[in-house]
Amino acid sequence: MVFFYVDNLSAKLIFGGSNSGCGLCNKSIICQSNPSFMELKEEIVKKVLLLQQKYAAMGQDLESYLDGLLHADYLTYWDYIHLDTLLSLQTPRTSFPDEEIFIMYHQITELYFKLTLHEMEQIVAHKELTGKFMTARLKRVNSYFQALTTSFEIMVNGMEREQFLKFRMSLLPASGFQSAQYRLIEIYSTHFRNLVQAESREKYASDYSEKDLVEMYEDIYWKKGATELSSGKKTLTLNQFEEKYTETLLGTAERCYRANILHCYTVLPESEKADLDLITQLKWLDVNVNINWPLSHYKSAVKYLQKNPVDIAATGGTNWQKYLPPRFQKRIFFPDIWSEQEKEDWGKSWVEEILHQTN
Ligand code: HEM
Repeated sequence: MVFFYVDNLSAKLIFGGSNSGCGLCNKSIICQSNPSFMELKEEIVKKVLLLQQKYAAMGQDLESYLDGLLHADYLTYWDYIHLDTLLSLQTPRTSFPDEEIFIMYHQITELYFKLTLHEMEQIVAHKELTGKFMTARLKRVNSYFQALTTSFEIMVNGMEREQFLKFRMSLLPASGFQSAQYRLIEIYSTHFRNLVQAESREKYASDYSEKDLVEMYEDIYWKKGATELSSGKKTLTLNQFEEKYTETLLGTAERCYRANILHCYTVLPESEKADLDLITQLKWLDVNVNINWPLSHYKSAVKYLQKNPVDIAATGGTNWQKYLPPRFQKRIFFPDIWSEQEKEDWGKSWVEEILHQTN
């Protein structure tokens, strides 16, 4: 047992047995007649000593840090999560109330994308990756995407179409197309070659080298979604995006050349690769990112941009009807875990269901 005696000038540690008490009355551990006599639990003393070691190792003085602790305020919820900042990030460009919904739902989506990348990074950076760890992290990613897919109703039915069609004109040429995190999720998931437009993919060997990445980037599938129908030129939306993010995207492609989810799976021992739980999570990732989310998103484009005498142009005058549906793009992260028939039918039933509903 350790006792700590505090008076105005000094503090003394007194070590003794459990019967030791206050040096003045020798009665109790927490002394009534002398309240400045305090018991200090052994665990606390041990922690103080550990802290002293920690700070000494960095040439720091524990006492100064303890002073800091004495003066520091208690943490609050709002400071911890930066609530005021978070709630100040919605700045509509128009006075249509539904524009706030549009902004916030995009922000919510970007936070889920960030969570996804956080999990993916843990997989690709793992020094001793196991199938079990991979499965657990992919389960998390799949739950984020399931939440995104099911909540997309907020976009589809949660805004007045008339308001949307007006406020969107004040947002041009900005588009969710410019979401870099969305592209990073794809780059983390698979070999870069799988993200090349289907028509150009054969140009690149399946054992392509890291040097090919720059050329492949020019053939990346998303450029197709941002080419002006009338002139065949890149849209301003794409030009802005490339100017800001090409370096980051290519840098990540290089980093993920031999460190993406597909690669990490391929190099696992055969016994772990055959694990059904893991294969199921990989399949869900493919379905969630490449079919379910794109279809929920497509549904919103259909709701707001279709059904006009002449369909309302997408952000850059692109043919979004031909670009957005997964069955046309056929983006597949893990082609080898699907049968030929499944790949052939990629996204089909869903698309037909949606088109049926909106006709
Ligand atoms: C009313 C709601 C929405 C409509 C009508 C809509 C419409 C569109 C359209 C037409 C495109 C094609 C490119 C373009 O012309 O801009 C597109 C692309 C895209 N949008 Fe949205 N969008 C909506 C909501 C969202 C939300 C909430 C997100 C979340 C971040 C998002 C993310 C994306 C992404 C990532 C792409 C690129 C998809 C790809 O390349 O396959 N969109 N959107």
